[in-house]
Amino acid sequence: MNPAEIASWVSDAAKAFSAATDLDQLKSARLAHLGDKAPISLASRSLGTLAPEEKASAGKSIGDAKAAINAELAKATERLEAERDAKVLAEEVVDITLPVQRRHRGGLHPITIIKNEISDWFIEQGYSVEEGPELESGWLNFDALNIPADHPARTMQDTFFIEPLESGMVLRTQTSPVQIRSMLTKQPPIYVISPGRTFRADELDATHSPVFHQVEGLVIDKDISMAHLKGTLDNFARHMFGENVTTRLRPSFFPFTEPSAEVDIYFNNRWIEWGGCGMVNPKVLATCGIDTSIYSGFAFGMGLERTLMVRHGITDMHDIVEGDLRFTRQFGMGL
Ligand code: DAH
Repeated sequence: MNPAEIASWVSDAAKAFSAATDLDQLKSARLAHLGDKAPISLASRSLGTLAPEEKASAGKSIGDAKAAINAELAKATERLEAERDAKVLAEEVVDITLPVQRRHRGGLHPITIIKNEISDWFIEQGYSVEEGPELESGWLNFDALNIPADHPARTMQDTFFIEPLESGMVLRTQTSPVQIRSMLTKQPPIYVISPGRTFRADELDATHSPVFHQVEGLVIDKDISMAHLKGTLDNFARHMFGENVTTRLRPSFFPFTEPSAEVDIYFNNRWIEWGGCGMVNPKVLATCGIDTSIYSGFAFGMGLERTLMVRHGITDMHDIVEGDLRFTRQFGMGL
């Protein structure tokens, strides 16, 4: 127990304390250099074995060394506690000035929202919703609807034909072929609507899109008259445009209905053309094997883009097609 040895205990302890990088390491260093088995503690306990004349000076040396080690410990503790506090402050800080990183939930496109709205309403009235394919046979899209090859109605609807042309397939120009599909597969009474995507070789502009949507309605039952058609359209229009809307039928022509009409609505102080309708042409019923001496029916069809544009005062089709979220979000989430 010479002075050099005692000094080395102090410097070893000081080195260990300043090497500690956190309070846990400092605790281990403290046990090693000040604990029961530390050299200085053992020396302290052996003081009793010394001769009385040596005791006083050795006791003082050890006491001084202990005080020096404790001072080193206090210094290291202060340093490491300050470091810990700074770290906690930095890590757990809440910066209320940061911009909010809000993750937007997905939402439905307004066309999908209006399609669901229409489907839900007709389902409430007892209708079912049928969906036909977008790639359709020319026979179902035209011929079965009483639109023969040389009929001017074919050129009215600029058609995307599918190669090879002999396939007879087209991108459906209307949802009306789903009428035929329904009549061929169901027995009357038939109450169906078929919303869906339709295609015509038009340029995209403020009022046209080559890809658009229609909803078709078809009712086949006993004693169905034009009055049922008018009543159904009135209720449908009120559901879509509000209680105050008025409808009117204007004579028109469609090959698959006889008589045929345009349905207009009086909305925002003006008459607006909404869609087409009529009593299903008996020729079409016969093509689908429906007994025209028992059954009659009505049909109607309108554009979903048009319905949406009229109802919400949208003036440019681009807004509906382009999918800009600033436009879409105005219609709510619709989930
Ligand atoms: N399919 C017609 C069109 O695209 C719309 C239409 C008119 C549908 C009269 C009908 C109807 O069901 O009866 O122009």
